[in-house]
Amino acid sequence: MTARTSALWEKQDQHKGDRWRLFQAVGEAVPAGRVLYAGSFVDVAPSFVYDDVTYADMDKRAAAFFADTEGVQQIIAEHGGNADARFAFVHGDYRLLDLEAGSFDLLISLYAGFISEACGHLLRVGGTLLVNASHGDAALAALDPRLALAAVIQLNDGRYTVSNRDLDRFMVPKTTQSITVDSVKASGRGIAYTKTPFAYLFERVG
Ligand SMILES: C[S@@+](CC[C@H](N)C(=O)[O-])C[C@H]1O[C@@H](n2cnc3c(N)ncnc32)[C@H](O)[C@@H]1O
Repeated sequence: MTARTSALWEKQDQHKGDRWRLFQAVGEAVPAGRVLYAGSFVDVAPSFVYDDVTYADMDKRAAAFFADTEGVQQIIAEHGGNADARFAFVHGDYRLLDLEAGSFDLLISLYAGFISEACGHLLRVGGTLLVNASHGDAALAALDPRLALAAVIQLNDGRYTVSNRDLDRFMVPKTTQSITVDSVKASGRGIAYTKTPFAYLFERVG
């Protein structure tokens, strides 16, 4: 592993094992073959759990990280991942990905913009979007007729749990306001909801 790869991963993993715990919980709840992580930077934690992950980011540090194939394989192996796991990296804008529509079982959107809109077509019908409220992508997903809320991911004392109970208690805005695609995009911050789970799982239904 190059020193650069190691340094990038140390920084990414500064809350030791946090993303590993997240993806362990997601992996138990969402079996998936092909996974797409748009705006991944160097968060390789999905590969600790899933055997076929495509990462995409425009940042050249992410490109350098993933170019160190052996280093990334080592990180995956050190976290219980499959030694034969396939991972690929696309260096570029996730709004322009040249990937087959409907070919992914799980799409990941964490802190990286409006991925549900840009990449939602790459998810198969019946597949799952993991999205958090940062930048408004969860709010945008809730307005997307292709997507339906399926579960929430809650974080308590460092432990992630996935639940599909009482979903109507979630995504309730704190204030009465009209929420539209344009207003969500203009705010860029997302909607303040009465409950704040770590993230949401949406199913592609159309
Ligand atoms: C705040 S980081 C989050 C990284 C990772 N998802 C995580 O949660 O640790 C946002 C990442 O999204 C990437 N990004 C933002 N817009 C992008 C775009 N249109 N195409 C590709 N990557 C993008 C940035 O380069 C950056 O690496």
